[in-house]
Amino acid sequence: MKETIRQLTEAFGPSGYETEVTSLIKTMITDFVDEIKTDVLGNLIAIKKGASNGHKIMFAAHTDEIGVVVTHIDKEGFLRFATVGGVGISTLVGNRVRFPNGIIGVIYHEKADWKDLKIDKLYIDIGAESKEEAMEQVKIGEFGIFHREFCDLGNRLIAKSMDDRVGCAVLVEAIKKIKEPRNALYFVFTTQEEVGLRGARTAAYDLEPDLGIAVDVTITGDMPEARRMEVSLGKGAAIKVKDSSLIVHPKVKQILMDLAEKNKIPYQMEVLEFGGTDAGAIHLTRSGVPSGAISIPTRYVHSPSEMIDIRDVEASVDLVVALANKELNELN
Ligand code: CO
Ligand code: ZN
Repeated sequence: MKETIRQLTEAFGPSGYETEVTSLIKTMITDFVDEIKTDVLGNLIAIKKGASNGHKIMFAAHTDEIGVVVTHIDKEGFLRFATVGGVGISTLVGNRVRFPNGIIGVIYHEKADWKDLKIDKLYIDIGAESKEEAMEQVKIGEFGIFHREFCDLGNRLIAKSMDDRVGCAVLVEAIKKIKEPRNALYFVFTTQEEVGLRGARTAAYDLEPDLGIAVDVTITGDMPEARRMEVSLGKGAAIKVKDSSLIVHPKVKQILMDLAEKNKIPYQMEVLEFGGTDAGAIHLTRSGVPSGAISIPTRYVHSPSEMIDIRDVEASVDLVVALANKELNELN
């Protein structure tokens, strides 16, 4: 499990450029699914057919990560950039960016007021001495990601892009564990979530599921002077109640809570006051899809060092497996 998380978090996949991640996932799961395909937006869709009278469940975990895109290179060879997805400006200074060809740069700021650090005061230094030298290495419009290695602290792990490679890892592990599911399972490794839930939207339209479940990270309230929130690392899978993109269908919330109780899976309730997940797009598809989310509690979300607890990841896998095998007549 940890090795899967390491491989997935070390892969390169800013929004729109997720193929390294989807290819990696494909090699991990091909032997365990009935069918596997990629759609126009790059979503990887893996199917386990299940019993013929089961319900159609779409599980979604996004493969893309936040990053930067180069907008301008000045004559001294410094790069200016825009952010891709919700990048926290306060986490950028001194951090490193990696481009697809392996070029590394450091982000720093102009002489600026620390209290009012704006993106246009920041630049990336790739060590070039002129615009020409810089242009040989990185082009305008190139996408980059944070350059950080995976760290194993025991129960806790730190990496870039835990959001949402840890969700991808949950689905990969569940795919390997589920043998003959009660329901028809569509595991969708979605693209472009961080820029507006885009991949999930087209995938859900095509699949027309009876139930949609996003597997993604959520923030926690267990750090010094954190915003009040009843989610902590190590206390189990988080069952979403709401976020800004979705109010979880009451029946779906109940199904997940009952499953966790019945199978003695540790869980906690997530009420997220901002942010969204793929379920936000799925539930508004066609005439509507009952939807919910299983979240992995994560500290420092959208920074280059996101921290999770492996026990919560295992609980999330157990909940996905339990749902795959549950008769879902209450949805009719
Ligand atoms: Co995110
Ligand atoms: Zn996410």
